[in-house]
Amino acid sequence: MNLKHWIKNQIINLPRPKHGGDIWKYKNKHIEDFSSNINPLGYPKVLEELIPRIIHYVKFYPDDTNKLLKEALAEKFNVPEKCLVVGSGVTEILRLISDVFISFGDYVLIPTPTFEEYSFCCLISGAIIKTVKLDNKSNFHLNFDLIYEKLNNKIKAIFICNPNNPTSVVEEKRRIIELADECQRKNILLILDESLIEFVVNYSDYSCINEAETYENLIILRSLTKTLGIPGLRIGFLVTNKQLCKYLERARVSWNVNVIAQLVIPKLLEFYDKHIQDAIKVITSEKKRIYDILFRGKYPIYSSYPDANFFFVNIEKLGMTSKQFKETMLKKGILVRDCTSFGDYCYNYTRFAIKTHDKNTLLLNAMNELIKERVG
Ligand SMILES: Cc1ncc(COP(=O)(O)O)c(C=O)c1O
Repeated sequence: MNLKHWIKNQIINLPRPKHGGDIWKYKNKHIEDFSSNINPLGYPKVLEELIPRIIHYVKFYPDDTNKLLKEALAEKFNVPEKCLVVGSGVTEILRLISDVFISFGDYVLIPTPTFEEYSFCCLISGAIIKTVKLDNKSNFHLNFDLIYEKLNNKIKAIFICNPNNPTSVVEEKRRIIELADECQRKNILLILDESLIEFVVNYSDYSCINEAETYENLIILRSLTKTLGIPGLRIGFLVTNKQLCKYLERARVSWNVNVIAQLVIPKLLEFYDKHIQDAIKVITSEKKRIYDILFRGKYPIYSSYPDANFFFVNIEKLGMTSKQFKETMLKKGILVRDCTSFGDYCYNYTRFAIKTHDKNTLLLNAMNELIKERVG
């Protein structure tokens, strides 16, 4: 029997996307994780009191409508409830988007390197992926002219990550709005992932969250996993116009948000602004410290000043690949992101998050040691 007979063609050789944050492999060793880009302060400490108080609710199914959660999110982010869909992280929402919009043979445009889940969910639906390359000549900024050239009538959707993972570059709101207008004129969906935007200083100047409901074709993604530092709880949402929301809600997996997240998130949102402001303070001062120590010419590694809460670093001159760099840092107790899976030139780059002062000192010491070993 040929088992492949049952498997959709597009799944047979589909590689799984790679991610940072894979601490489970190293759970018996003391490793400091710099490979996932979440809030450097972790979760608000009140979470530790909240969970024991509501743990008995796990005997019930969650509310399939996510009502309380939507009410709280609508108020916090100033968007109508009917314009929201909530999910178990942005990753689940991406799958919902491809389930609803992407059919076999559809063309999708993705600037690369970027978060791998965009192409992954579209490939599962059988899409054909077209890419626009981000390069270091433009400091990894989007080449909007090239994007406009590629937005022909074959393209059904474009994914933009702002700020972009792994490059840590944010695009101006004006440019994103122009792109949304152009896509609307051409009947193209724009999926704008703002999962990391709240880690950018003055992020409200960059975000398009409050424009989403006024467009026919704009879907904004936000990840509370990242901002509240709760990747293990999983929570994200999308904002778009009411009509698209209706169809997205129809296809959503039943009970997609677990009962613990449904009950604790509305409470955590009371601490949200302060938690983000405190994180931004740490990110801002630590970013400058790390940049001044590592990237002012003393060492043979290069990074431009990051817009978000992580560095994307060219390590080519160390004479090691991203994978080798990760393995060497691991021996020193530090987990960074091996960027090879982002494709193209990324095997020459590494990515690490900005954390709190003491943890960053561990990373800086390990880097200093590694560089001395390599180049003396
Ligand atoms: C740009 C971007 N969007 C979304 C996600 C996933 O978010 P979530 O944990 O909410 O699924 C990530 C995780 O690395 C990311 O980098």
